[in-house]
Amino acid sequence: MKLKDKIAIVTGAGSGIGRAISLDFAEEGAKVLVNDVNQTGGEETVKIIKEMGGEASFFLADVSRSEEVQKMIATAMERYGKVDILVNNAAINTMGDSQATTEEDWNRTIAVNLTGPFLCAKYAIAEMKESGGGVIINISSVEGLSGFSNQLAYSSSKGGMINLTKCLAIDHARDNIRVNSICPANVETPMSSNLVDQEGMEPVKKYLLRKHALRRFGKPEEMAKIATFLASEDSSFITGTHIVADGGWLCGTSMDIAEIFGG
Ligand SMILES: NC(=O)c1ccc[n+]([C@@H]2O[C@H](COP(=O)([O-])OP(=O)(O)OC[C@H]3O[C@@H](n4cnc5c(N)ncnc54)[C@H](O)[C@@H]3O)[C@@H](O)[C@H]2O)c1
Repeated sequence: MKLKDKIAIVTGAGSGIGRAISLDFAEEGAKVLVNDVNQTGGEETVKIIKEMGGEASFFLADVSRSEEVQKMIATAMERYGKVDILVNNAAINTMGDSQATTEEDWNRTIAVNLTGPFLCAKYAIAEMKESGGGVIINISSVEGLSGFSNQLAYSSSKGGMINLTKCLAIDHARDNIRVNSICPANVETPMSSNLVDQEGMEPVKKYLLRKHALRRFGKPEEMAKIATFLASEDSSFITGTHIVADGGWLCGTSMDIAEIFGG
């Protein structure tokens, strides 16, 4: 068991990648504080973990709200006595270029996707410093590493997360806190299917599938294995960087040529 007796907080864990990470952490022996704004989804994650014989509990909080984040960290301390691992996974997706993105959409996207991870890190690190160290994993995106059409606010928030990761890693290395990001491309979750499985979006889905060299979308469980690696001692010399899990999205711009040659 790679995370035996570790205490982990996973935000946005009522669905998709956050749920898969929580399950994998629990399987590796961690006790998980499952956070989400969706109580039903979060409680379902806890139920699945308990049915597996693991330990988890739910905490309802909006990560963009400082008071709620502070209560979440305090609750983890009351329930489990420490915080070893924080996964900043909660996010929302908004569509639009600079003209279509409303100020409200921009502010909300940055609040959840970037201010939320800052707040969770800020208050978790205070406890990690006291207990001698910890690990933070930020779920960014390939959209944090390159621009993406029509997703101005989301892509900007994910780019911010890449440098949030680096700054936290530099500032807290001597507190024995490691901080890394994961950058997935498309992963089969509600967030992704809300976008590509809508009526009229078939050409976009086909295009996106072709952008992945492996010609498929990722699975939440594949992201969870990377999170467990980054949370465990197996990655003890890795900090301030990101792992790209994109099925070959960013490896080249010549997918069309590859197809001509049968790739
Ligand atoms: N699915 C993909 O294709 C993909 C690709 C790249 C990156 N990501 C990233 O992976 C992470 C997980 O995404 P997913 O695909 O599992 O999405 P999802 O929509 O299935 O899950 C996100 C969860 O976050 C919760 N959430 C939203 N706002 C919140 C808030 N303010 N406070 C607490 N919880 C909140 C939602 O209720 C939901 O349960 C996100 O950071 C996302 O940006 C996803």
